[in-house]
Parts: sequence; C-alpha cells; structure tokens
Amino acid sequence: MLPDKTIYVDNSATTPVSDRALSAMLPYFSESFGNPSALYGYGQEAKKAIEDSRRAVAKAIGALNTEIYFTSGGTESDNWAIHGVCELRRARGRHIVSTEIEHSGVLRPLEKMRENGYEITLLQPDKNGMISPRQLEEAIRDDTILVSIMTANNVIGTLLPIKELCAVAKRRRVLFHTDAVQAAGHIPINVRELGVDMLSMSAHKFHGPKGVGALFIKLSTKPGELISGGGQEKGFRSGTENVPGIVGMAAALTERVESLNSDMASSKAMRDRLIANTLKIPGVHLTGDPENRLPGHASFVIEGGKASAHLINMLAEEGVCASSGSACSASSKEAPHVLKALGYDSDVARGALRISLSPMNTDDEIDALNEKLPRLIERFRSRREATIR
Ligand SMILES: Cc1ncc(COP(=O)(O)O)c(C=O)c1O
Repeated sequence: MLPDKTIYVDNSATTPVSDRALSAMLPYFSESFGNPSALYGYGQEAKKAIEDSRRAVAKAIGALNTEIYFTSGGTESDNWAIHGVCELRRARGRHIVSTEIEHSGVLRPLEKMRENGYEITLLQPDKNGMISPRQLEEAIRDDTILVSIMTANNVIGTLLPIKELCAVAKRRRVLFHTDAVQAAGHIPINVRELGVDMLSMSAHKFHGPKGVGALFIKLSTKPGELISGGGQEKGFRSGTENVPGIVGMAAALTERVESLNSDMASSKAMRDRLIANTLKIPGVHLTGDPENRLPGHASFVIEGGKASAHLINMLAEEGVCASSGSACSASSKEAPHVLKALGYDSDVARGALRISLSPMNTDDEIDALNEKLPRLIERFRSRREATIR
C-alpha cells in the first residue's frame, strides 16, 4: 500500500483503512448499492447493513444501538453536540465550559456560540495537559448547560480524567460531551462507566474510512436536529446514509476492540522505546502527560529549532511521515494552540514533533526512527543557526 520503505507514523492525523474494513465496505459500492429508505430488496439490504453496523458500534462502546447516530465524522459530531445542546437547553442558560486544548471542531462552534451571546469558559490545563475535577467544579455556574472536554488530546496525547470530570458535571445536572475522536479504538471506552451524555467518534482515526463518524447520544438526551430533510437517523440527521462508510466504520471499530489489549501493549512498548531514545537527545522534551497518554502517541518539543515544518520535510525526504502537532495546522508556521495553552514559549512550541503509532508499525521501524532522529534533529538545529547568521 505504502511505497516500500515509507515509515508512516502520523496515525493521529489519519490511518490506512484495514483490509477487513475495506472488504466489508466493497459490496455496498456495487451489488448492494440500494438506498436504505427504499422498500424493495436492495434498499432493505442496505438498511440492514446500517442497523447491524449501529449495533456493532454501540457494542464497542457499551451503548444501546438506539443511542448511536452516524455523521460525516468527528467535526460534525462535535458541532452537533454543541449546537444541539444549546437548542435543547435554551431556556435554562447560556454558559458552556470547555478547555483551551480542544480540537477546532469544538473550539470553532464555541466561538460561534459566543458571537450569539453565550458565555464560554475555557479551562486552562496544567503543563501536562491535565484538567482537574476541582477546576471544573469551580467553573460550573447555575446557568451552565454543557461541559465539553476531550477524552484524549490530538497534539500531546494526554488522556483526561473523563469519568471524574463527568461526575462533577452530573452532580450539578449539567450535560457532558466528550470528543473521543483520538481515543475510540485506541483505549477501552465504555459510555456507561464514563457517565457521558454525548461522545464523538471518527472512523478514519481507527483504520476505517474518511468522512464517516458517529455521535453517541444518551437515550434521555434529545438535542436539536442537525440537518433537516428526509428524516434519516430518526429525523435528527437527514440525508441518504453513507452506507459503505458506515459499514467500514463498524468493521474497523470491531476489529480494533477485538485486539485492543494486545495492540495497546505493542503500541506502548514501541512508543516507550522511541520516547526513551529521543529524550537522550539534549534539548528535546516530551510534551503531554508522561504516564496518562495514548498508547501510540509520542510528542516532543525541540529547543533550538524553529518552524518544525523543516524537520517534518527532512523526515519526509528520508521516507518518514510524521507531523508537528495537528493535521489541521500541519502547514502553518504558528505553534499549535495546545502547546501555547500549556505555557510553552512560542519559539519552543514551533519546534514540535508528533510521532503517532498504530499496531501496524513494527519494531524495525522504531529502530530506523531511533537512528534517524538524533541526526536529523542536529541538522534541523544547524539549519536554524545558518539562517540566523
Ligand atoms: C480530537 C479531534 N477531534 C476532532 C477531529 C476531527 O475529526 P474529523 O477529521 O473526522 O472531522 C480530530 C481530527 O484530527 C481530532 O483529532
């Protein structure tokens, strides 16, 4: 699939579709092409595929199948959660609590709500990207209608204490949404254990196809509709369903959950070896929480470098696909907003490197990275000095 010696370690940006997900999808492009709303055989076959997929996705996160709504991905799910709760709880209040390190799929809709007269409190994380239950407790007011805090951060890999944070929101009768786009399929997720009311997922982050995701909405929660039209997804999200995408998402998530324990162990082992070696390079620091982090996520800042795009290009010349922080800001000269929120000086934050592994990576690839990184980081730094002089 990839050119022979390419080392793909940008799995937080996206992942290749697994063979199992691809072969599950293929029939729904050809012989089973029907519109799920049609009453004849082709249509009913497509409808059944969607409902089977809904059951599979629900099972993977401990939900009921009636609590899963398919969307076009993480961004759409996040937007729906925010706009939908604002509509639902209009009469109750106009205050929302979130964090400074959310993905733009949450931050942009919050900005829009601010323009529409809502008050938004963004909690500031500590240096490791952690938000404490106490911080949330202090931020919630009588007119707070929603808390939205991500399960795992895409730039620094930190896993946030969602169960404890959610318990705070529940005590104050405030709805809780979590963006679990980086977490689903990578760590165990059970919506009942977490206690969340809404949870966003995206298939392309766990070896499913792009352009499909889901929003878990607890049965007792009824947010406003997302897209009006023909009444698909129980009238909440109209538009003919992306049948192959939905089938691919369910197959990919089922596959990930089946091998979650062994995948987590192998990703962690590779990640820790990579981190230990990279931290031997002077002036390189780990970003995010050293313990509570995604199994395959290694992220660093490099002192004495400048725009990390140079380093990413040097790695690309040697066949390594990595990134600076988030896929959305890959080509930007700006430091990722997450690193700024953690208090990193913007010069240091511009030298960010993110290596995100999947179970498809190998020990040989980690060896190759451990050989390349010290050499390339040294060149990256001397390049900067050359430019300054
Ligand atoms: C934490 C997080 N939320 C949301 C998204 C957006 O997901 P999608 O690409 O499916 O719109 C991403 C994608 O990078 C993400 O990392």
